[in-house]
Amino acid sequence: MSLYRSAAWLAKGLREYTKSGYESAAKDFDPDDLEVQVPGRAFLVTGGNSGIGKATATEIAKRGGTVHLVCRDQSRAEGAKGEIIRESGNQNIFLHILDLSDPKKIWKFAETFKQEHTLNVLINNAGCMVNKRELTEDGLEKNFATNTLGVYILTTALIPVLEKAHDPRVITVSSGGMLVQKLSISDLQSERTAFNGTMVYAQNKRQQVVLTERWAQQHPAIHFSSMHPGWVDTPAVRQSMPGFHARLKDRLRSAAQGADTVLWLALSSAAPLQPSGQFFQDRKPVPTHLPLARTSSLPAEEEKLMEVLGELAQRFK
Ligand SMILES: NC(=O)c1ccc[n+]([C@@H]2O[C@H](COP(=O)([O-])OP(=O)(O)OC[C@H]3O[C@@H](n4cnc5c(N)ncnc54)[C@H](OP(=O)(O)O)[C@@H]3O)[C@@H](O)[C@H]2O)c1
Repeated sequence: MSLYRSAAWLAKGLREYTKSGYESAAKDFDPDDLEVQVPGRAFLVTGGNSGIGKATATEIAKRGGTVHLVCRDQSRAEGAKGEIIRESGNQNIFLHILDLSDPKKIWKFAETFKQEHTLNVLINNAGCMVNKRELTEDGLEKNFATNTLGVYILTTALIPVLEKAHDPRVITVSSGGMLVQKLSISDLQSERTAFNGTMVYAQNKRQQVVLTERWAQQHPAIHFSSMHPGWVDTPAVRQSMPGFHARLKDRLRSAAQGADTVLWLALSSAAPLQPSGQFFQDRKPVPTHLPLARTSSLPAEEEKLMEVLGELAQRFK
């Protein structure tokens, strides 16, 4: 990564991604946007047992929505489900155990889900930053398997059920960290260069932004968005970036603040008035490239990403 990109990103982050950045942006929010009730609408939240995902699931439950939590760990997931029911009084909270780094299981899950449920809003929230190169049982690099291929397969598999729903939406929790990366598809499994988990994560998050733009073009009946939650105090940040967490601790956003734009995209009637496929921060579409950072990709490179993921995904079907 160029020094320019990292310095420009850090300066932007300290201004905008912190708690004070949220408080300043929130002065322009319309509080009525989230004063909605959504009984009868179904929301699937991946990683809904923790951090931003749990805050999102709880607020949706409070507004009467049916919530499908998709989580990998039974006991953490059951604990979260109980808390969400207690806090919201909403009994329509369903649990599905699924490891999103396992492509075969994602296809299988989606097949069953489609037969048993309807879905209005898919929230691709689960994500990881694994700092050592780890492979899944299928030989996939763990960050790529979870953040890119998992999101690709789950979304692709659920598009038919979303297309049957009223006002369908897909929100993918990406990261402002993607601003330091130009789309690259030459080494999706991170085999060829020294492994840097932070950069692999940022590349995966760039891929999610490109996927969102492409899906928006391919599926006009669904409203797609990607978003950056800001820098949020969650287990992921504590575990994967302990130095960053220690330095910024008091300046990090709460999970509720991180979830605000996810909720706005999922619930408000204002969100779908925006063009589909954009990247949001604090309820506003924002550029997907830093000025002068040379991170833009060619349409052919983006098409290639779709093609490569499509082929890889089919191998596990
Ligand atoms: N926090 C930030 O500052 C920040 C900034 C930018 C973007 N984000 C993004 O926000 C999203 C939510 O993260 P968070 O910060 O709220 O962290 P978190 O509280 O640690 O939540 C991450 C969630 O993802 C789940 N997950 C991870 N790998 C999974 C897998 N293979 N299968 C199923 N679930 C899996 C975790 O499950 P377990 O509980 O079982 O581990 C957890 O529920 C992520 O996509 C992250 O990249 C966060």
